[in-house]
Amino acid sequence: MILFSFFLIGLVFGYDESKCTPAELPIAMECKTKHKELRSQSVTLDLEDDKNMRKLNTTCEEFLECSTQFKCGATSKDVENIDEAISYCHAVAFHVSPGYLDCVDKVDTKNSTCVQGWNPFPDFEGTEEEKAVKQKEACRNFFGKDGCLEEEISDMCSVELWKDFKMHYLALNKIIKACDFD
Ligand SMILES: *[C@@H]1O[C@H](CO)[C@@H](O)[C@H](O)[C@H]1NC(C)=O
Ligand SMILES: *[C@@H]1O[C@H](CO)[C@@H](O)[C@H](O)[C@H]1NC(C)=O
Repeated sequence: MILFSFFLIGLVFGYDESKCTPAELPIAMECKTKHKELRSQSVTLDLEDDKNMRKLNTTCEEFLECSTQFKCGATSKDVENIDEAISYCHAVAFHVSPGYLDCVDKVDTKNSTCVQGWNPFPDFEGTEEEKAVKQKEACRNFFGKDGCLEEEISDMCSVELWKDFKMHYLALNKIIKACDFD
């Protein structure tokens, strides 16, 4: 059912090491490498494979541990990118959590019309105009046709799991800026 497609994590550019304290600097430098690794893995790994998803989660765990110190030399734009990487990692952790995996099993087995063909972040072909029309339609069905995933996930799993699901997908949407829900 749930496809975790690729999201580009923004590059960190204007790093100024002189703004970091001697205690922060080595951690920040290591974190810069982790961030790069994360960016690369998020586009090269086949994330439909659970094994790769867990591998990505491990990189995420290491990144999350140093992400606070990493901000020491960052510009405000970089801080935004780092925060996006943090949200991304929280979504990755959700996708490898037992509660989520258990839920996907149930939802997949039921294979209701709601989940068939659900794709919150589709790729479109065509002219800019055609793409805009298709994107609008995709945004209307971001949580399934007429938002049917809310009932589906709440019923099959739990309201708590639905809330987490919604939170992580809205965060991912913010990163790739697909739909404007505000
Ligand atoms: C995934 O990473 C989180 C930290 O973000 C960690 O708490 C969790 O145990 C990890 N999950 C797995 C299955 O390794
Ligand atoms: C779900 O149902 C659709 C239509 O009935 C079918 O084409 C599809 O193969 C099913 N998928 C799974 C994973 O069973």
